[in-house]
Amino acid sequence: MTTLKHILSHMIKKFNKYLSYKNNFLYLEEICLENIKLKFTTPIFCYSLSEIHDNFIELKKSFTKIKPMICYAVKANNHNQILSLLSKSGCGADVVSKGELQKSINNGIMPDKIVFSGVGKTTDEIKYALKKKIKQLNVESEEELEEIAEIAKAEKKNVNICIRVNPDVDPKTHYKISTGRSEDKFGIPNSRIIKLFEKYKNNKYLKIVGLSIHIGSQIQKIKPFETAFKKIKKQVESLRKLGFEISVLDLGGGIGIRYQENDRIINSKEYCLLIEKLFTNMKLEIIIEPGRSLVGSSGILLSSVIRKKSGEKKDFIIIDAGMNNLVRPAMYNARHEIFPVKRKNFKNKKYDFVGPICESADIFIKNNPSQNLQKDDLVVICSVGAYGACMSSEYNLRGNIKEIFIKKNKIINE
Ligand SMILES: Cc1ncc(COP(=O)(O)O)c(C=O)c1O
Repeated sequence: MTTLKHILSHMIKKFNKYLSYKNNFLYLEEICLENIKLKFTTPIFCYSLSEIHDNFIELKKSFTKIKPMICYAVKANNHNQILSLLSKSGCGADVVSKGELQKSINNGIMPDKIVFSGVGKTTDEIKYALKKKIKQLNVESEEELEEIAEIAKAEKKNVNICIRVNPDVDPKTHYKISTGRSEDKFGIPNSRIIKLFEKYKNNKYLKIVGLSIHIGSQIQKIKPFETAFKKIKKQVESLRKLGFEISVLDLGGGIGIRYQENDRIINSKEYCLLIEKLFTNMKLEIIIEPGRSLVGSSGILLSSVIRKKSGEKKDFIIIDAGMNNLVRPAMYNARHEIFPVKRKNFKNKKYDFVGPICESADIFIKNNPSQNLQKDDLVVICSVGAYGACMSSEYNLRGNIKEIFIKKNKIINE
């Protein structure tokens, strides 16, 4: 007979292979999560360092013909532990602010492995990037390029540029994380690219070395990547035909991860194969900027049940994590799976799992079958390693919460 216990055991591994039930208690790596509440207060973010390491190695190994520069998108999670681990593994960084640039350098990522993206780089940020001699700036508008050229001249600093192309491709993801359609604020349309190469071809300080692209995040099908990559390949060929030297191609990030049990996700091999098929013989330095796919699965949000509430039409489980800790459900209608830390075999009933914040949007998951939970029971919300802690706020004057890192039987709390 398939019991709820078996279902939970089977399901939980799909979200993070270091999560498992042993003697009915949930463990992350070798740490029993029930014991976390003896040392720390909830809610608390807990991450598996092994999962992040494995995700990085798996991606790296999936490339067999080319060796792209992997620049972790720091915006996904900027914790020192993550930056330091990835830096030691040889990873570069994709940053979108001076703060992310400084923090990446402080964690050992060499400036020549850092690319700076974003539509709104300020004068101060551009100056700082030039001073640090980073690998390149990915430029998002003609106006921005003009300003960089002026700053580079005034400061007498050389800078490498990739022009971010807006390929007008729908990544078929949530509209709030779509970045490659013509109506999105990102990138420069294909039709205006050649003009920019011509305008700056003899510039003393500014060198346009290639193109970049990033069509969106949490992309679950390979087709939008294929369409966009083919378009950018064509653009590279056209530019080369006109005599422009193109040596760098930055393909951005965007690979989706599993949030729900039956989510279809892109296998990293499938993604790498596509890149190798299209670009292996093109004499290009390929950069990729994965964020979510490196860290998303590693994190859980551990939370305690405050109380149950039986409503007129449904029953609620109110937990001590709220939308200020994890905004993705409220912001992107994301559904994160929730599991009990202490597994019982009680008949399951459906509950809405909600936070304590004074907003109706503060719901994690609706109509979720769950065992009977009581006050102070612990639950975990899965797949919160990316765009979780770094997007949190102190809304309702709830303080920022702790983030701890687990490696085998060790807890790193700094
Ligand atoms: C320019 C750029 N590169 C990379 C990423 C990382 O995307 P993801 O976390 O989906 O891999 C983002 C995020 O939206 C981005 O804006």
